[in-house]
Amino acid sequence: YVASFSTPPPTHLRSCKVSIQLSRGENARKEHEERRTSSPATPPLTHLGLRSCKEYLSKMNHGISILLIAAVCLGTNCCYVSAAAAAAASATAIKSRDRPTHFLKPFGVLQSNKRRSRLSDDRQPRRIIVMGGPASGKGTQCEMIQQKYNVVHLSTGDMLRASLAAKTEIGLQAKEYMDAGRLVPDDLIVKLVKDRINQPDCQERGYLLDGFPRTREQALALRRMGIEPDTFLFIDVPDDALVERVVGRRLDPVDGSIYHLKYRPPPQEIMDRLITRSDDTEEKAKSRLEQFHANVNAVKKIFRGIMVTVDGSGSPGAVSQEIGNILEKKLAKCAA
Ligand code: AP5
Repeated sequence: YVASFSTPPPTHLRSCKVSIQLSRGENARKEHEERRTSSPATPPLTHLGLRSCKEYLSKMNHGISILLIAAVCLGTNCCYVSAAAAAAASATAIKSRDRPTHFLKPFGVLQSNKRRSRLSDDRQPRRIIVMGGPASGKGTQCEMIQQKYNVVHLSTGDMLRASLAAKTEIGLQAKEYMDAGRLVPDDLIVKLVKDRINQPDCQERGYLLDGFPRTREQALALRRMGIEPDTFLFIDVPDDALVERVVGRRLDPVDGSIYHLKYRPPPQEIMDRLITRSDDTEEKAKSRLEQFHANVNAVKKIFRGIMVTVDGSGSPGAVSQEIGNILEKKLAKCAA
């Protein structure tokens, strides 16, 4: 549900007139994003999770007020609530004496259980997996997806490197595998992902899994966690191009930007501070490629129902464009 207010939401709701537009599904969210593109002053959409709605349930006696109050408290004038939060708000509204019935229906609580669970599914945050060979452009494309859709970017490679830098047990155990360009054992990586994905930001905003799962066992572990992704993007790049991308990659330690000496040249003034990853050598790239080919088909098979293959051999911008189109189509389909 998207609630957008033509004026900033007032603090005293009962006595005010606010134009509220409630509409369902991803279409509304998309429309809002389009509005933001054409009019940058439009505020971003804030997700009001179950907790923030529930906090106001006891004080308010109809559902729509909860949206408004929560929006005021979060200092936003545009918000959306998940189906679960809306249902909770609606449940309270039903109990109240002065319920505004025209608001109850869109909340979905009066629907049958079957219908309601379908609606909930439509409103789940995005759960996207990005897979591809080493240096296929997963990180580069995830930057774009994250910016556009505000999902949490979970790169297992980055998480492992951060764990190593922090000298955690997982990081230290993973080091020898990463240095050799081999896959880190499944149990280690599954634990890392499980801990992270259950955190509130991932639950509320959705997530973008970059580099996980890479083996059949990891994919099955994801299922055992109860996680059903909605999109599996496979970035397809020929092996020889991958090796060239590995050896030419440079990273900016200051803001995490990914550059390539030939394909995405860094600005001259930051050249001195750029770093090269220790596994970005031709020899290690070949070992990483072997591991990739040994596992990729088993993972693809598990996600074939939601898999979309993207030609990753074009320029970064062209690949971004293709991925953007795919995701927009998916969202439109969900909302329909
Ligand atoms: P990880 O860091 O995930 O390495 P990777 O899979 O080899 O992928 P990369 O990060 O190298 O590349 P990328 O696809 O993100 O490409 P990028 O956008 O940077 O993992 C490192 C290690 O951790 C693994 O080897 C393993 O040991 C361990 N690990 C991680 N996850 C694991 C798991 N699930 N299970 C077990 N072990 C795990 O782009 C690369 C370069 O190409 C850049 O220079 C970029 O500018 C350039 N580029 C990008 N797109 C284009 C384009 N379209 N055209 C030209 N150049 C491009």
